Amino acid sequence: MSRKPIIAGNWKMNKTAAEAREFIEAVKNQVPANELVDSVVGAPNLFVEGMTKGTKDSELKVAAQNCYFEDEGAYTGETSPKALGALGVDYVIIGHSERRDYFHETDEEVNKKAHAIFRNDMLPIICCGESLETYEAGKAEEFVGGQIKAALKDLSADQVASLVLAYEPIWAIGTGKSATKDDAQKMCAHIRSVVAGEFSQDVADKVRIQYGGSVKPENIADYMACPDVDGALVGGASLKVDSFLALLEAVK
Ligand code: G3P
Repeated sequence: MSRKPIIAGNWKMNKTAAEAREFIEAVKNQVPANELVDSVVGAPNLFVEGMTKGTKDSELKVAAQNCYFEDEGAYTGETSPKALGALGVDYVIIGHSERRDYFHETDEEVNKKAHAIFRNDMLPIICCGESLETYEAGKAEEFVGGQIKAALKDLSADQVASLVLAYEPIWAIGTGKSATKDDAQKMCAHIRSVVAGEFSQDVADKVRIQYGGSVKPENIADYMACPDVDGALVGGASLKVDSFLALLEAVK
């Protein structure tokens, strides 16, 4: 089963709109063709509009970093998935461990957000991953499996086949201590088996699973060589033009 690789930068709360524009101008004509790899930039929601306009004639796709699960209403300060969809945003990153930890996002909310994202013609990148404590207790597979089952609840088989799952062990995020390729492969294979159990082998064969956590140009090839790893969700190394392009080059 061949799945198209997907490399997504997650800029987190970095860059100004002017810096984002500069980045887009520098990379947009050097991004590999869409048939080879999906190249995505996850910008702060504040300036996704500029990003969708700036990438219009390029192969670069735009992700938002979060959204609410209702389309509109009295939710002061929240980001409407309907508004993101109308801007032409392609993906929304949800369930990131930083949102789960600092903003108390629950499995149930992640699931509601996934439904809202599909309702508004975008695709979710659903993050999962265990803490160091859970990893060391040997309970990572059980924990991540639970996150996946909850996140995918009541989605259709077609929806699940089209979305992206991102395995990001919390202990590897921004620490420089990336998971070994064997650990990444083992967990991504486990996640695929959970999808097969909840949906079907066909759906599991189609869903794309990324690894995230201290991915950089120097180690991306190791992860991409793993049969169940279909790409990467990248924080720090996606912020600089050179390293972002090097990541894309390495997988095309
Ligand atoms: O979502 C990406 C992420 O959390 C990993 O960040 O800086 O370790 O690549 P980083």
